[in-house]
Amino acid sequence: MASDKNCRPKILVTNKETPEEGLKILREKCDIIFPESVPATRDEILKLIPGVDGILWVGHYALNGEVLDTGMPTLKSISTMSAGMDYVDIAEFKRRNFPLGFTPSVLSDAVADEAIGLMIAAGRRFHEGRLKIDRSEWSGGPQWMLGQDIKAKTIGIIGFGEIGQTIAKRLSGFNVKRILYSGRKPKPEGDKLRAKFVPQSELLRESDYVFISIPLNNSTRHLINETTLKEMKRSAVLINVARGEIVDQDALVAALKNGTIFAAGLDVMTPEPLPADSQLLKLPNAVIVPHLGSATRRTRDDMAVLAAFNVLAGIEGSPMMSPYPY
Ligand code: DGY
Repeated sequence: MASDKNCRPKILVTNKETPEEGLKILREKCDIIFPESVPATRDEILKLIPGVDGILWVGHYALNGEVLDTGMPTLKSISTMSAGMDYVDIAEFKRRNFPLGFTPSVLSDAVADEAIGLMIAAGRRFHEGRLKIDRSEWSGGPQWMLGQDIKAKTIGIIGFGEIGQTIAKRLSGFNVKRILYSGRKPKPEGDKLRAKFVPQSELLRESDYVFISIPLNNSTRHLINETTLKEMKRSAVLINVARGEIVDQDALVAALKNGTIFAAGLDVMTPEPLPADSQLLKLPNAVIVPHLGSATRRTRDDMAVLAAFNVLAGIEGSPMMSPYPY
């Protein structure tokens, strides 16, 4: 990397609210530019790309061949600040063998914590309870507002990557009956966490709580749909901390209205931001959170730091700390 002060690499950070912890790592060796507005439009970001050496791509705008073309010939390295890479044209990066980083591991704890929060909030009807108070409908009594137990229940985790495994670790303190997981193949970590690999249909049939923690791609889009929702127990709670499009949202709204399943806790939905008049927000048995999975101070700092090191490594032509394994 150029060491001359006047010839420092130039990095575009696509959101100027990126945690300082990450920015200061970049500043030591590079000059940083940001778009003026927050959040910037994709067009504003594209206009700033010509001439930069690296990009810290914050947010979920399409990251594709157009970005790479716009950055040529100077652009050498990009890191996202996310675990999910559904908005990235991975095939294009692979075709060009272009250095691409992301930040998966550092957010697993925060996302798993949130998933457990959604499990409890949806299973125990927190949102519906709050609505009762707001509407002066607090009647009380031994049969009022009963929710689902966790103890002795079966938990299903669709996608047993780091986030899925971290959810399973959290659940070890809840005295659940068993943990099932599905995915492409059994994982060695499953045995350590006493989780059993099963086909997805068995998981859906058997589970009292179903967590979605699988990446969005063409084979997982609408994995949860009218048919698969009907395979679930009527008492089941669905928790999605992955991507909204993994669930057919219209089918979910119908299932929550007609009692096909008991409740849902969603960190992610379609579209994002969710319009205030969305049907989802009208459902008492849906706990909806605006994509806050990784939104803790420490986690965002860690993501920014890791992404910054990724970008620097890519510029220097050395291996990234957290390269995307394409
Ligand atoms: C991610 O990193 O992909 C999560 O959705 C948090 O933004």
